[in-house]
Amino acid sequence: MEAFECAFCKKIFPVDPFHTFCPDCQEPLLYKGPKADKKFHRDKDFPLEVMLDFLPLDHVDRNLSLGEGNTPLIKLKKVEKNFQLPSLYAKNETVNPTLSFKDRGTALATQKAISLGIERIGTVSTGNMAISTAAYGARAGLKTYVLIKEGAHPEIIHSTGIYNPVMINVKGDYGELFRRSLSLGKENNIYFTNSVDPFRIEGYKVAAFEIFFQLNQESPDFVFVPVSSGGHLIGLMKAFHELRQHGFITKLPHFIGVQAEGCSPIASAFRQKKPRVERIEKAKTIAKAISNPDPPAGNLLLRMIRNTGGTIMSAPEDKILEAQRILAEIEGIFVQPASATVLVGLLELAEQGKINPEGSIVLVLTGNGMKALGKITQKNTQILQANLADLSSILEFVPSD
Ligand SMILES: Cc1ncc(COP(=O)(O)O)c(C=O)c1O
Ligand SMILES: [Zn+2]
Repeated sequence: MEAFECAFCKKIFPVDPFHTFCPDCQEPLLYKGPKADKKFHRDKDFPLEVMLDFLPLDHVDRNLSLGEGNTPLIKLKKVEKNFQLPSLYAKNETVNPTLSFKDRGTALATQKAISLGIERIGTVSTGNMAISTAAYGARAGLKTYVLIKEGAHPEIIHSTGIYNPVMINVKGDYGELFRRSLSLGKENNIYFTNSVDPFRIEGYKVAAFEIFFQLNQESPDFVFVPVSSGGHLIGLMKAFHELRQHGFITKLPHFIGVQAEGCSPIASAFRQKKPRVERIEKAKTIAKAISNPDPPAGNLLLRMIRNTGGTIMSAPEDKILEAQRILAEIEGIFVQPASATVLVGLLELAEQGKINPEGSIVLVLTGNGMKALGKITQKNTQILQANLADLSSILEFVPSD
């Protein structure tokens, strides 16, 4: 039998997109599938169809898809060599249809909404999720409500608005807005597929299954993931747990969640061995996409990470843009500052001698840099000036290496 389950009190609830938190513990519920034998349908080319046995869907409606998934696992040979690292890969989630990993979760949530006859979906977001939900809502013909936290960049507002959702700029506390959206959703029949929605988390599992196949059916030793609400890393961990449970792997990777130092409530609780995450008063980070001071799955992630010997760490703010530049300059991959945190985390653990030289490492790159141009200033971008007439003489003076 399928159900929603609370990892804290172990109570079981019916599968219901309008009731996604445990009423007793106030923690997010996770989807629990039937126990039956599961296999991958590798004859299919559509990720949701390949993984169907592991997902809360009976079938996949291809018309709802925007082509999410099947993202490349790219070897980072130059970073490996420059920093003397073992086998290093990037799972490039920035090439999803709306340029972030959020499409994995939104794709699954819209499949679920349509199969349940739901007509309205919504989300609460500071950026990537707003764009993703608006795009998939438009594709599915669902009335879509996007609650944007006051202060979002015009780039985000316009890239969401073009899909024509009902977009509301909300003043007030973000954690409060998250909770209010769920109760308003119940009252108004809007399925809020927020960052820790159990179906969204199921969609995130697909990227982990892809990594497993891309590594010839092996687990990597380390998986580095940027963390804000915690939903994405929980999804990836859940997938590897299911691979082990069904006999596909014997050992789990070490999961390393990385927060930006200026907003790192989960990393602080982990470091200080606190039983629960305490919300922080004021977030101040250049990694805007992972700036959630009151992460709704913080306690759940803390528990899962502690149970598996992983780590939640924080990336110093002054190292984030440097890591972003390294990935662009030597590997040709332009990510958001939020995503660059994973390279900062890896280099720090490597310096501390905590990376096994025989192992393999996957950095999950979550969002495209074009969506967060704000921090790339004139100062960082060199551009020479020329008239057509003096172009060749200028080229002579440019060093050729
Ligand atoms: C680019 C990017 N990376 C990582 C994350 C973190 O994901 P989660 O909130 O599921 O922890 C987000 C979330 O908004 C994001 O936009
Ligand atoms: Zn509970």
